[in-house]
Amino acid sequence: MYSEKVMDHFKNPRNMGEIENASGVGTVGNAKCGDIMRMYLDIDENGIIRDCKFKTFGCGAAVATSSMATELVKGKTIKEALEVTNKAVMEALDGLPPVKVHCSLLAEQAIHAALWDYCEKHNIKIDGLEKPVNDIEELEEDEDE
Ligand code: FES
Repeated sequence: MYSEKVMDHFKNPRNMGEIENASGVGTVGNAKCGDIMRMYLDIDENGIIRDCKFKTFGCGAAVATSSMATELVKGKTIKEALEVTNKAVMEALDGLPPVKVHCSLLAEQAIHAALWDYCEKHNIKIDGLEKPVNDIEELEEDEDE
């Protein structure tokens, strides 16, 4: 069901953990499955992503996609990191079963949310980067209902 790459990133996740005083942090959740993903970015003065770490409370595919996403955005500029879509993450993992596509979407959204956080702190506007909609507050509100 899962590719070797997915299994590898699930069993040996890369860049798991957090970055203290991160330049940008983004937390997103999927209200349906309840999984939560948090991305930390360390961005240098030239706008290059020096480091990226993640914490994921979720399914195996969510762990694998976060792990791959951190590997893909490292060393990239903010604009380049925006191109790390869920499709790019899935391709890098040699695919995901259809029912697990939403897990990769969470990875894309978490990166965007962390980039948004960084850009907001630095008053930077980037075309194509929008305020994260699927953020954790929404998830918590859903839980309260
Ligand atoms: Fe929801 Fe994987 S089942 S993120």
